[in-house]
Amino acid sequence: MALTDVSTSRRRGRRREDSKLAGHVDRLGEEHPPIPLDSVDYTMERPGLLAERFGTVLDFMARVELEVERNVLELNLLMPDPPEVDRHFYADVWLPQETHHGLILDKLQVLAGLPPTEPNLTDVAFKLKLLGALGKVYGVQDVSRMLYYLTGLATERSAVLAYNKLHAGLVELGEKAVAATVVAPIRRQEPGHFAYYQMAARQLWSQLSSWQRWLVRTLRRHSFEPVGVYNKLQRVEFGQLMRALGISTGGDADLRHYARQVGRVEHELLWAHRRGMRVPDYVFKELRRAAQAAANLKEDRRPEAARSGP
Ligand SMILES: [Fe+2]
Ligand SMILES: [Fe+2]
Repeated sequence: MALTDVSTSRRRGRRREDSKLAGHVDRLGEEHPPIPLDSVDYTMERPGLLAERFGTVLDFMARVELEVERNVLELNLLMPDPPEVDRHFYADVWLPQETHHGLILDKLQVLAGLPPTEPNLTDVAFKLKLLGALGKVYGVQDVSRMLYYLTGLATERSAVLAYNKLHAGLVELGEKAVAATVVAPIRRQEPGHFAYYQMAARQLWSQLSSWQRWLVRTLRRHSFEPVGVYNKLQRVEFGQLMRALGISTGGDADLRHYARQVGRVEHELLWAHRRGMRVPDYVFKELRRAAQAAANLKEDRRPEAARSGP
């Protein structure tokens, strides 16, 4: 096949992928409008017990969901000139859906007698500002975009797993109303987000040159954080969330299983060429670090030292 034929068929392939992705986003918007806030039945059988068992989960997830507002600021920094399909996804579909998830979870925890969550909606981390500035260098913005998709993949997968466990836990507690009208509708919307990041990540990865791939692997290995963990206190809280949901109770074997689920697509794309590496090791290590941070904490006492700094 002549060179011109190869590049023409590549261009066609790319256009096909683009329209598939755009179609997916349109469908998500049409089929999954933000959950109406008045559709929720907050009836609780034993709010005190619910708060005791799952308070850390509600608080953590409400914060993560509400912080998408800041994530959009970060995206504007990382991608000042984003592809239209990305902008359409995060501004018109993802942000309104996630914001409602956060509002609903936060209201539930307040009605259960807990304080409202305190999301950080405005302070963008220095490393993201740095990445945004580097984005002006040719080719680096694609690296930032790839890192954004990878973070989205791990985050959405973690959310799906957390809501599945939370749903089962609430049913087991006999809290049928909130399981059916809070968690079930939220968890129905998360797989569509995951599918979006998966399609976008596969497509972009296939277009990156070898130096860009090297940079993605290097930055990702050194910057991976579990969903919603930006400092020591949040690491402890994530460890408590994993414990409350039974993710870490089986020790390293369970955590490795969980890490494999969170990092599956990332592993396939970035690391599958390294035989024998079944899960990105940095994912497992960060999860174990959070589990240990929570285990080291004496009986629900929040450490003053953990409140500040990464
Ligand atoms: Fe969500
Ligand atoms: Fe989501």
